[in-house]
Amino acid sequence: MKYIKVLSFIVISLFFYACDQTKEQTALSKVQPPNFDVDINQIIGRLTLEEKVGQMTNLTLATIADEGTDRKLTLDPEKMEEVFLKYHVGSIQNVISGAYEIDQWHTLIQQLQDYTLTKTNHKIPFLYCIDAVHGANYILGGTQFPHNLALGATRNKKLVKAAAAVTAAETRAAGIRYNFSPVLDAGRNQLWSRLGETFGEDTYIVKELGKASIEGFEGNSLINSPTVASTMKHFVGYSDPKNGKDRAPAYIPEIVLREYYLPQFQEAIKIGSKTLMVNSGELNGVPLHANKYLLTDVLRGELGFKGMIISDWQDILKMHERHQVASSHKEAVYLAINAGIDMVIVPYTFDFTEDLIELVKEGRISEDRINESVGRILTLKKQVGLFENPNVEEELKPYFRKPEYQETALQAARESLVLLKNEGDVLPLKKGKKVLLTGPTAKHASALHGAWSYTWQGYKEALYPDSIKSVKAAFSGASYVKSLEFDKPKGSYRKLLASAKNHEVIVLCLGEKSYAETPGNIPDLAFPEDQVDLVKQLAKTGKPIVLVLLEGRPRIIRDIEPFVDAILVGFWPGSKGAEAIHEVIYGDYNPSGKLPITYPRYSGTLLTYDHKRLDEAIEKDDPYDYSYEFNPQFKFGDGLSYTTFQYSQLTTSADTVVNDLKISITVKNTGQKDGQEAIELYTRDWYASVTPSVKRLRRFEKIFLKAGEEKTIDFILNKKDVSFIDPSYKVIFEPGNFDILIGSEKKVIYWK
Ligand code: BGC
Repeated sequence: MKYIKVLSFIVISLFFYACDQTKEQTALSKVQPPNFDVDINQIIGRLTLEEKVGQMTNLTLATIADEGTDRKLTLDPEKMEEVFLKYHVGSIQNVISGAYEIDQWHTLIQQLQDYTLTKTNHKIPFLYCIDAVHGANYILGGTQFPHNLALGATRNKKLVKAAAAVTAAETRAAGIRYNFSPVLDAGRNQLWSRLGETFGEDTYIVKELGKASIEGFEGNSLINSPTVASTMKHFVGYSDPKNGKDRAPAYIPEIVLREYYLPQFQEAIKIGSKTLMVNSGELNGVPLHANKYLLTDVLRGELGFKGMIISDWQDILKMHERHQVASSHKEAVYLAINAGIDMVIVPYTFDFTEDLIELVKEGRISEDRINESVGRILTLKKQVGLFENPNVEEELKPYFRKPEYQETALQAARESLVLLKNEGDVLPLKKGKKVLLTGPTAKHASALHGAWSYTWQGYKEALYPDSIKSVKAAFSGASYVKSLEFDKPKGSYRKLLASAKNHEVIVLCLGEKSYAETPGNIPDLAFPEDQVDLVKQLAKTGKPIVLVLLEGRPRIIRDIEPFVDAILVGFWPGSKGAEAIHEVIYGDYNPSGKLPITYPRYSGTLLTYDHKRLDEAIEKDDPYDYSYEFNPQFKFGDGLSYTTFQYSQLTTSADTVVNDLKISITVKNTGQKDGQEAIELYTRDWYASVTPSVKRLRRFEKIFLKAGEEKTIDFILNKKDVSFIDPSYKVIFEPGNFDILIGSEKKVIYWK
């Protein structure tokens, strides 16, 4: 009897264990299994488990190469053997200390490819990947464009696409076919150190400019063409951490996630972006790298993403060490693979590779699951033409540094500058005025570039090409006098203040020292006190001050704004930023940038333009004065011009709308100068079952108008544009009144 009991216990336990195992192993099978090309299936069929897991492993260059003091690379034969022959690693990324010459890239990549193709059994070409985030970042002399936040200010899709196409061409010219860009995170937390990498706070702008940049990166073909595979990153909810720090917990309810953070990924998937990178942080208590619901059910099941999912840097290890959701590294690997990750940026060790092999051998992860990932990785390699031609494509080298790229970079920089204040029309300055130039961001090229500029942090001045002008170099006609410098003790301002007396106007360059990611964390958005003090000292001279802000996020200027006459925000405008600033300040270019974010007045009030009505309750009649107005320093969409634009004749195809709505607006340049104007169409939903935002941007278009010229622009909206996510996460449309808002004009329509 006792034995029967024991036996039945064992049988029942085994049954439940087996069920559990089945549950683990079939966890991914709810989503349609991928369908690979015959040749991809054939390759998978001949690979050993170890070779397959090697394809899923991504390491950094430092694991196989050393960099001498002259920054020359040498491959280490022992390490190469370990990486490529013992662990069968299929892709490498990054640089050791910073950018290399294009010829160094060619040599490196060809050597690695030759090694892989001659020495490995599998003979699968290896893949190189880098972060060409705002230009061919890790190639010396590569063109650097404004960062995405500055590009957001341009409201110019064509320009964003052109900048991405140049980035792709120069990257591919160096032999690199896979780029970790663009950032599709909506920059809805102004403190976040990666705000500068986003296209701003508005989901529609992020979606449209993200799409433009993917089209620019990938072009029409990735085979033997000056294009690169793109990466939609970082999926999802990275950009609004509760504490404002990089890689910190975010708490975003799913209804909000779907309304503001998901649509841009959905669109990017629709247009065919090849890969996706996972958010390094955690969302609602679950690291994204362990979130099977989002990475598989939503991303693959619902959004239909068929491409490759890559982890972010070291994030599997972090699930064990930092997030503490896995009791060991191996458990973290289990969680990540089960969640749906295909390739892992490990990037220094073989722990991932070893643990994953063990998990398969133990039967906890099926080999079918591994085949899915390997199939996606091999498909990517096929898409970028590595099977057709694994060698460095010498014929694409002429795509590096074409003279016309400089013009694209200059135009992007021009259009990215936002003029926020121009009291008494102090700008444009008359040529020949005696200008004093000073401030910590005046002298350095890095101040124009920020993150991912020849180095990760962007502040190694020595790596910037001589052709890049700092503001000081661009303003060669001005007298530059030293004042504050980052990382140096503050000296005396005696010489500066004395010199101010002999000048007619002061151009003061303030902002932030270059940073990327976590090193850019700050405790609050307040402007550094020494910079505030500098403004106040200079204001005492009574000379007009033109403030130029070069910063990756909007540092609070409440206390200094009254002391300055003009404010020009550049964010990180890239290599041609200084020349563009010079052109705007002297009126050679009429500024057209519009803020892609809300510029806050207080560190404690960090709202976006599309906040809810309750965020700005105004109950003036109440004796206790409950008012808390929405009163940012500058509003989303603010941006002055040297001319004036008048909006009129806002008409709609109907007052009661059934399906699509056609909207027309006439815009006239009523000033004396030619100029560009970004026309923005907003809607405001009067009543909805989920509280509507005060307004939402639905369309934008940039036009050029000569002085006195007028144009009529048409937009088409449909029900989807004014739909929203309901509490059961469905996209719904609710009939009702909507305001249509363009410039100064407004019209109410009823949408049935
Ligand atoms: C960043 C990613 C980047 C990756 C690879 C990470 O630290 O979060 O945006 O693509 O490094 O370099």
